[in-house]
Amino acid sequence: MRTFRPHPDVTVFNDQLEVPGIGHLPINAYVLHAEQPVVVDTGLGLDDRDFVRTLGEAIDPADVRWIWLTHPDRDHTGGIFALLEAAPNARIVTTFAGVGIMSTESPLPMDRVYLLNPGQTLDVGDRTLTGFRPPLFDNPATVGFFESKSGIFFSSDCFGAPMGSADLASADSIGELSDDELAGRQLLWTSIDSPWVQAVDPTIFASWLQPVRDFDPSWIFSTHLPPASGDKTRIYDNALAAVGCSPFVGPDQAALEAMLASFEPV
Ligand SMILES: [Fe+2]
Ligand SMILES: [Fe+2]
Repeated sequence: MRTFRPHPDVTVFNDQLEVPGIGHLPINAYVLHAEQPVVVDTGLGLDDRDFVRTLGEAIDPADVRWIWLTHPDRDHTGGIFALLEAAPNARIVTTFAGVGIMSTESPLPMDRVYLLNPGQTLDVGDRTLTGFRPPLFDNPATVGFFESKSGIFFSSDCFGAPMGSADLASADSIGELSDDELAGRQLLWTSIDSPWVQAVDPTIFASWLQPVRDFDPSWIFSTHLPPASGDKTRIYDNALAAVGCSPFVGPDQAALEAMLASFEPV
């Protein structure tokens, strides 16, 4: 996992997964260095990952006050229980649905939960976080947030893009991607992660995106995209262009068997 700090108030914990035939998917968790520090998602739960140790490169885990779980998919929950132990004063920001989904495997301690719906705010001392359901998501519990002090948007799965190389998946910023590559990669991700956009009215979708445009974030920190600053027009245009796209169809059993056969010794 790579740790870097693209903004004075944000540390990125950048991990990635190589998905055959798809690319290298960035998997980012964050610390927002607010007066009351906020961890945003907790990475993968693979055995060789140690989220709390990695977090310690940027902050004493005991100082964490909030763990904003943007949604309870497994690429976001990896370190959550270890962090709850290491951060006794921290509470998990999630939704009723988020608590419910977590309860199907490892229930969250309810005295550590803080329920927050889209549109509601959280005071973290020197700034306010406003919950917002991003226009693209794969889980009904998803809530990202707008941050008031620096104008940052944490977008969860929205605006994700599997990259063409491991280097790009750990890039400092999307400035390293050409317009064409970013467009293709965002479209691929949307067709996989939000296949329901095939049935969405473009006007309605544009209205879901509009609050992001209106907020005009200084930075967008997505779980699955390198950090984005500067002009975001191409990111928004790519999201709009994905409306109506065909859902991704993965390899079937015949393809799997052909691939496995190719591995057999001659
Ligand atoms: Fe997800
Ligand atoms: Fe995700």
